[in-house]
Amino acid sequence: MCGIIGYIGNKQSDCILLEGLKKLEYRGYDSAGVAVHNSNNIKIIKTNGRIKNLEEKLLEKRPEGTLGIAHTRWATHGKPSEINSHPHSNKSGTIVAVHNGIIENYIELKERLKDFGYEFVSETDTEVIVHLLDYYYKGDIVDALISTIKELKGSYALGVLCKDEPEKLIGVRKDSPLIAGLGIGENFLASDIPAILEHTRDIYLLNDNEIAIITRDSIELIDVNKNKIDREVYKVTWDIVSAQKDGYEHFMSKEIAEQPKVVKDNLSLRLKTDAKTINLDGINLDKETLDKINKIYMVACGTAYHASLVGKYLIERLARIPVVADVASEFRYRDPIIDKNTLVIVISQSGETADTLAALRLAKEKGARTIGIVNVVGSTIARECDDILYTLAGPEIAVASTKAYSAQLIAMYLISCYIATQKGYISEEEFIMFRNSLLAISDNIKQILKNEDRVKEIANKYKNCDNVFYIGRGLDYLVAKEGSLKLKEVAYIHSEAYEAGELKHGPIALIHDNTLVVGIATDEHLFEKTMSNLKEVKARGAKILAITLEGKEDIMDVADDVIYIPNTEWIFTSILANIPQQLIAYHMSILLGHDVDKPRNLAKSVTVE
Ligand code: M6R
Repeated sequence: MCGIIGYIGNKQSDCILLEGLKKLEYRGYDSAGVAVHNSNNIKIIKTNGRIKNLEEKLLEKRPEGTLGIAHTRWATHGKPSEINSHPHSNKSGTIVAVHNGIIENYIELKERLKDFGYEFVSETDTEVIVHLLDYYYKGDIVDALISTIKELKGSYALGVLCKDEPEKLIGVRKDSPLIAGLGIGENFLASDIPAILEHTRDIYLLNDNEIAIITRDSIELIDVNKNKIDREVYKVTWDIVSAQKDGYEHFMSKEIAEQPKVVKDNLSLRLKTDAKTINLDGINLDKETLDKINKIYMVACGTAYHASLVGKYLIERLARIPVVADVASEFRYRDPIIDKNTLVIVISQSGETADTLAALRLAKEKGARTIGIVNVVGSTIARECDDILYTLAGPEIAVASTKAYSAQLIAMYLISCYIATQKGYISEEEFIMFRNSLLAISDNIKQILKNEDRVKEIANKYKNCDNVFYIGRGLDYLVAKEGSLKLKEVAYIHSEAYEAGELKHGPIALIHDNTLVVGIATDEHLFEKTMSNLKEVKARGAKILAITLEGKEDIMDVADDVIYIPNTEWIFTSILANIPQQLIAYHMSILLGHDVDKPRNLAKSVTVE
């Protein structure tokens, strides 16, 4: 969603801010702007649309100054437009702010401020913040900020400049990520690490209601009572190149190609080649603890939710504990039955998804033990859950999740096998079988990726379908759900995922001769049944693309095209069958001329409800 970068130092700030914004493009945005303090005044330049528009505008007349803030906006209140884009300022232009998040009580605040004589120029919720800062400003911007945030309900990460305090950049957050970066003779504020990684690896991660007072030579963290906070510096260990394209045409293709390595990295820490058990990064879930657990909730959104469905399926089948998988935006409002014997596992790539975070907080409030399966180190969810299992996929930049999903599936495999072993449902022999197959997954993925040209041909053949059904049974149905989501997201083709057996209860009415049906058939026991369902749609004119295991040649009787994946243990087919689905979505998107890394209307990290 929106992105923030702030700079104070001895260099011209506009270039640093612009470069920082470019690093945040992957978050999704529709307008951008900068504000630069030049000791006499604060100059604001903003544009609708892409950052390159802003760059062109800046080139016309560069704002001089070594202190500034910048923002990419993803519209929530008010359409994407120059006037609604950030930074916003008070009427005299002396107080300027950028904001990520949503102010829930902005209407009420706006009415009050209007009664005091304030005039509003934008449709945004953010504008109330600058007028409140103006209202409370009595010569100290930090005091004004403290009074202002006391009035705000909702979520915010804020960057603030004040004309009369030219030596200060101020930041504060609540329920929206914000970091401060330490340099030499210069310091930074940002919503995300990549924005400033080129300049520093030393970061302060801000918690809710913590204020960062940033000058050229220092960063001071205080709470709302102005108590000083001592915070350890967090050292970023990953490299900026891993956040760049690395020779690939798009982030999505780079991230798809990285999956063998991601799988290997995840397993190397947790499952040794001769292991008799799994190491879950020290998460204590011994038999005694597990025996007390009456229920597990797995809560997430989007692709991460699809990973949770696989987790539910496997934990129930292998470890015999009831699991409810729930979409976070539903879970948080349906008064879920939770007690101290409930385990809640939340899954999130970004670790900042608003609904997932709210679900985690609800679970904690109700006394559940919580585990986070998170990719972004130091993110809010990672910090707030009781235990954390990082998915170690590295930065995922493309909006469509690929490598993070595979890493989440590995986490699901590890957790379900771990719990089943602890509870005595898996024999040593079975464990060794699973272990060996799991350790082969990285090579299996490499093998599938070698056939990318063939998948591209298939994508080309079907790219003009106006309707696609993804069908499967058991785990294959869960794979189908992810395939369908990916196609919608990046190729903008309408698609639905169905349990293969459900088709004839309604959706089969939609099948005609330009419908593509992608049939996932990797489950030995259900193979014949899925075949029958494919025959039913074939008879009604559908084109059939099958994804199945090597050796299942009889599927050619019904399918127009087949993609084979290597044989593996049944529990691991989901990760392999999904790789061709990612490639199909990717190539269809490119062939149709879409912006595959930044699909329309989507944001990488959904930090509002
Ligand atoms: O960062 P999270 O994993 O919490 O994000 C959840 C969803 O927003 C995300 O998976 C979304 O569905 C992706 N665009 C899928 O490709």
